[in-house]
Amino acid sequence: MENISQDTKNILGLQLPTDPRWVDLASISLEDILTDHAYCEQKAANSCISLITKYNDKEKLVDELSPIVTEEWGHFRLVLSELRKRNLPLGRQRKDEYVNKLLEFQKKGSSPEERFLDQLLTMALIEARSCERFKRLSEGLTDEYLRNFYRKFMESEAGHYTLFITLAETYINKEKVRARWKEWLTYEADVIKNFEIRGDRVH
Ligand SMILES: [Fe+2]
Ligand SMILES: [Fe+2]
Repeated sequence: MENISQDTKNILGLQLPTDPRWVDLASISLEDILTDHAYCEQKAANSCISLITKYNDKEKLVDELSPIVTEEWGHFRLVLSELRKRNLPLGRQRKDEYVNKLLEFQKKGSSPEERFLDQLLTMALIEARSCERFKRLSEGLTDEYLRNFYRKFMESEAGHYTLFITLAETYINKEKVRARWKEWLTYEADVIKNFEIRGDRVH
């Protein structure tokens, strides 16, 4: 894990680090961040369940993603209890502009293999960016308890990022995975660059 704290860009391949001002904005709207984060975890669990349902014939995927569903749901519960501790409601789910933008990049009408690859890489990317954001929070917040709170998420999501890439390489030619991953990284950097910096959401 020590590598994660060295240089997120190198480790995760992300092309554009988060604007440092984001942590300050996030710290003043922590309630919104917690709500948004709770739904991110819920969506992560949902997405893993969908992948298991859709690719039920891929044994490794089914076996590796099954415990991730439990883990992501555990994350949801951790964030929910953090909200409750602060007497805050779960709140409403907002429109996920970041994920919607990523979904636009998935190849439509392509081969089943290409669609499968894009689904795994979308997941890898969301995990990588979430990991990077949690790293920012774990380093930039003033509250020590919260810094530790986010550090645990950072470590967990880094493991998930790696798993999705590994799964892609299990079923698809490595060169193909690498080439498409590069395209995804370039696209994602552009998405982040064109987004307004908002402290009320994880992405
Ligand atoms: Fe998670
Ligand atoms: Fe995750």
